[in-house]
Amino acid sequence: MKIHVLLISKMERNLGLLKRMIEDEEIVVLGDSAGGSLALDKIENTSPDIIIMTLGAGDTDVLNLAERIILHRPRTFVILVAEHLDVEMMQSAIKVGCHNIIELPSSPKEFSDYIKSVYNNEKIRLKSLNEKENLLWSSTVISVFGAKGGLGKTTIAANLAVKLAEKRKKVVLVDLDLQFGDINIFLDIEPKETIIELVQEVITPSIDSVRSYMTVHSSGVHVLCAPRSPEYAELVSPERVLSLLSLLRTYYDYVIIDTAPSFSEINMTAIESSSLIFFVTGLDISILKNSKLSISLLESLQQTDKVRVIVNRAVDTNSISINDVQKIIGYPIWAKIPSDYKVSVNALNRGIPFVTGAPSSKLSQSINDLADILVSGAAMDSVKENKKSKGFKLKFPRKNY
Ligand SMILES: Nc1ncnc2c1ncn2[C@@H]1O[C@H](COP(=O)(O)OP(=O)(O)OP(=O)(O)O)[C@@H](O)[C@H]1O
Ligand SMILES: [Mg+2]
Repeated sequence: MKIHVLLISKMERNLGLLKRMIEDEEIVVLGDSAGGSLALDKIENTSPDIIIMTLGAGDTDVLNLAERIILHRPRTFVILVAEHLDVEMMQSAIKVGCHNIIELPSSPKEFSDYIKSVYNNEKIRLKSLNEKENLLWSSTVISVFGAKGGLGKTTIAANLAVKLAEKRKKVVLVDLDLQFGDINIFLDIEPKETIIELVQEVITPSIDSVRSYMTVHSSGVHVLCAPRSPEYAELVSPERVLSLLSLLRTYYDYVIIDTAPSFSEINMTAIESSSLIFFVTGLDISILKNSKLSISLLESLQQTDKVRVIVNRAVDTNSISINDVQKIIGYPIWAKIPSDYKVSVNALNRGIPFVTGAPSSKLSQSINDLADILVSGAAMDSVKENKKSKGFKLKFPRKNY
């Protein structure tokens, strides 16, 4: 099987260099382009498997083109080749969603091996589009849920998504708080399109069409934002949410869903489609009372195997200790997030998630731990198992907050 590639570079010299570096019979060069709108036509006409683009310092036009291709042509993979690769370039490539970036390899063999490995890895991911039975292991869908407003659901969802993207995972963050969703504020993004335009304009969604309604955050996380105004919420039906989520899980490593605090049909659809439910609670008797009720409801819906209880703002107060929480809600605590008003508020005011803006804070550390547990696969261990063993396998809390 042949891999068809298109070469794009503003500099004639670089095009020649790239061509000379490809001398593998499995790799066919379909053509080349200097970029710009002519490149778009060429891509459209030749439908390459892989586009190889050269990237120099400050080449924002190259990055913009890469972003467009990545968003609109998920079946065409982009490789960026830099003459001198530095951290800044690497970060800017990841920001536009391109994870395949290398310094010009020293030999044609090395270059061909790299192209083939990118092609094979991406193909394996796309294969799951047609093989529904593989979906369970290929993607983790997490609903971040809680029994009340203001518990920190959006804080956890947004920071976790960014952290997972930093770990080079493909992450989509879906704002299903359809009336008052505020992920755009947490991430300081201005969506051109939201879930409303998506459900109104696309009847039979494909991964290609859905991605064009997303906004790419600078961390590389793809975000499907909530409607701009609460009255649009009712235009989104549970059926559309169901088909959207089953589509997203075919492409992304992690689908993270932020929810509104209610047992609405939309939330139930998200919860039932999820592999994990991050159930956020806090140290307050009224929150705990509602949390207990919600967990029994999830129990009657046979969803508790997926529940992972996260205590946010976990500080031992005189009235309720963290151990009391477990007793009150009758369910094991899976993780604790410390309380840090300053770091949280500062992140929100600046629109920079704390995992990026204050990476060494305890708050960020606790999200990093969560992300590590997810990436290791240990988050999928049954809670029942955890219940049996004294103390969870999980590391946190690393310290008493
Ligand atoms: N661990 C924490 N320490 C200190 N402040 C926090 C912490 N977690 C969240 N906050 C703050 O609490 C407020 C509410 O958080 P957030 O918006 O994430 O809650 P929510 O559960 O999504 O609320 P809603 O249900 O209204 O959407 C925010 O101002 C946030 O900065
Ligand atoms: Mg919220």
